[in-house]
Amino acid sequence: MIHVKSLSKNYQIVKRDPGLRGAMKALLKRTYMTKHAVKNIDFDIEQGEMIGYIGANGAGKSTTIKMLCGILTPTDGEITVNSIVPYKDRQKNAKNIGAVFGQRTQLFWDIPVRESYDLLRHIYEVPEEQYKETLALFTEVLNLEPLLAIPVRQLSLGQKMRCELAAAFLHRPKVVYLDEPTIGLDIAVKVRIRQFIKQMNKMWGTTVILTTHDMQDIEEICTRIIIINEGTIIYDGNLQSIQENFGHKRLIHFELEADETIKLPEKLSGIAEIDSYDQEHRKVTLSITSKELSAASIIATMMTEYAIRDLTIADPKIETIVEEIFNRGS
Ligand SMILES: Nc1ncnc2c1ncn2[C@@H]1O[C@H](COP(=O)(O)OP(=O)(O)OP(=O)(O)O)[C@@H](O)[C@H]1O
Ligand SMILES: [Mg+2]
Repeated sequence: MIHVKSLSKNYQIVKRDPGLRGAMKALLKRTYMTKHAVKNIDFDIEQGEMIGYIGANGAGKSTTIKMLCGILTPTDGEITVNSIVPYKDRQKNAKNIGAVFGQRTQLFWDIPVRESYDLLRHIYEVPEEQYKETLALFTEVLNLEPLLAIPVRQLSLGQKMRCELAAAFLHRPKVVYLDEPTIGLDIAVKVRIRQFIKQMNKMWGTTVILTTHDMQDIEEICTRIIIINEGTIIYDGNLQSIQENFGHKRLIHFELEADETIKLPEKLSGIAEIDSYDQEHRKVTLSITSKELSAASIIATMMTEYAIRDLTIADPKIETIVEEIFNRGS
């Protein structure tokens, strides 16, 4: 479905010295700097695969997705999506794809959601019957009924995102790109969105590329992950081996009873480390670095040394995993 070979994207950035003088100088003579956002990447994706495309901020994820959508023209290399070259044949490509950019909207700001959908139906030339059937299904799965009559600008973030997701899948595209679709959402909406994506993939065999900073999204939706770091792919494979290597590296957040100075207990050296410490708010986060002790024993040790008011256990941060794979490889 998707073929990417030796793909690169450079941005030209105008270099400017600070201050007024710099601004004047830049007006007279522009000097450019090249930013290599994506460097020589390769991958092939089969129909129906659900891929997690992950990496730290600025790694090149959105740039890749924009090239796949046909919004950006690559500096170098090949892309085909369903045998179409996206940037050359944007319209034809657009019929096959759906996209959600977590930070943007494709719905029309001032008109009710239902009318945006109707417009999309015309743009994508969806047959009337199919449209009705699809919308009825989405209305049920994403609980859209109360939202359809409301203009997008009056919706909350979670409501808007459910509407966006429906819009992306409305014409039953072969490929859907989801760039941070769960950013800033509460857990209930996240769960609903994950279920929806999985259900669409099952029903229509939709190929999904998902970028996210939430490890839970990846674990629930994707079977394969591609990790990009500073524009280069450093891992492409199944999720399982990542889980085996990093599954134990969870974070434990503690909230302390008293305002005291925290030191890592002797017993935990080499087993956990302090990831962050906010003395003012009495919060400390430990990251588990070794499989030797269970999370339960680490918590027990902390509780013998400090008065703990509350605690939560969280998945490892994607950034941590990326960093470790990167360090291991070089
Ligand atoms: N229009 C642009 N002009 C110049 N540089 C850009 C442009 N868009 C992105 N970049 C740069 O390219 C690099 C990759 O950006 P990109 O948006 O692809 O990152 P990302 O992986 O999506 O990050 P995030 O997780 O923060 O969304 C960054 O260093 C960014 O500053
Ligand atoms: Mg991005």
